Amino acid sequence: MPGRLRIAVQKKGRLADESFAMLKKAGLNFSVRGDGLLARVKNLPIDLLLVRDDDIPNFVASGASDFGLVGENVFAEETLGSKGLDVSILRRLGFSRCNLCLAAIENGSLQSLADLKNKKIATSYPGILSTYLKDKNIDATCVEMKGAVELAPRINVADAICDLVSSGATLEANGLKAFETILESEAVLIGSRRTLSAEKQSIYERLLSRIDGVIRSKDSKYIMLNAPQSQIKAISKILPGSDAPTIIPLGTDDGLVAMQAVCTENVFWETLEALKDKGARSILVLPIEKMMS
Ligand code: PRP
Ligand code: ZN
Repeated sequence: MPGRLRIAVQKKGRLADESFAMLKKAGLNFSVRGDGLLARVKNLPIDLLLVRDDDIPNFVASGASDFGLVGENVFAEETLGSKGLDVSILRRLGFSRCNLCLAAIENGSLQSLADLKNKKIATSYPGILSTYLKDKNIDATCVEMKGAVELAPRINVADAICDLVSSGATLEANGLKAFETILESEAVLIGSRRTLSAEKQSIYERLLSRIDGVIRSKDSKYIMLNAPQSQIKAISKILPGSDAPTIIPLGTDDGLVAMQAVCTENVFWETLEALKDKGARSILVLPIEKMMS
C-alpha cells in the first residue's frame, strides 16, 4: 500500500498502551487484536506496525516504516556510535517517563559510581552503559540480560544493575536502591531523512499537528472565575501559562468581573488557593479536550 503512512509502535507493555491512547486522542480509529502485527487505521491512510521496541529504530532507518513511536532509552541504545542509523527524534511526547539508573543492594557495599570499579553490572542497555562508564573512567564489566535484570544481584550474576526505573516498585521488591541516573527517558516520535511521497507528507503533517494538539491540551485547562475589578492584574499574573484573559463585566454593582483564560500549564490546588487569596470567587477549572492553533 504505497499511499498509507506506516508507523512502528511497540506491541506490548506500558509504552504500548500509552502510545495507543495518544494516537486515539489524535483521532486515529483502530483496534489492536491479539497477535496481529499490523493495525489498520480506519479513518486515515495510516497503518500501525506492531513490533518489538528494539526493532523500531531499525525499521524507521531502513524504510520498512516511515515513523516510529519508541522510548528514548531504546532509541539511544539502538542508535549509539557506529550504528549510524538514519533516524532522529522529531517530537518528545511527554508520556512513559522513566529513568535509566544504576542500582545495587540497599545498604550494601556498592553505593556510588566509584564503587563499581572491577564489578559486574547486569543490564539490557549495554551500549548506553558502557559508553557512560567509559566517559566516567570506570572499568567495569557489563553483563547483558534481556529481562528480569533486577534478579541479577540476588542470583550472583552481577554486583549491580542498570535498568529502567519508573515507580521504583521493582527495585524495592528486589531490595535494590538506585544511586545514579544515566538517562532520563520519555516516549519520542522518530523519523528518517528520507523524502516522503507528497501523499504521505501531507498525512504526516496532519498527524503531527494533531499530536502537537494532544501534547498541548494534556496539561491545559480552561479557568473561569469571578474577581474584583481592582484585582484583574494580580489575578492574571497567577494564571499559569495563559495569554491575556477574557474579561466580562457582570451585571452586578459590586465591582465584580468574570475572567476566563486558557492555562497551558498544570493548574494545582495551590494555584486556586492563591487566586482565592486575591479575591477570586466561583473558580471553575475545566479540562480542554482538543486544541489547534
Ligand atoms: C520495566 C523495567 C523495570 C520496571 C520498572 O520492566 O525494566 O524492570 O519496568 O518499573 P517500576 O519502577 O515502576 O517498577 P518491564 O516490566 O517492562 O519488563 P522487562 O524489564 O522484563 O522488559
Ligand atoms: Zn525490567
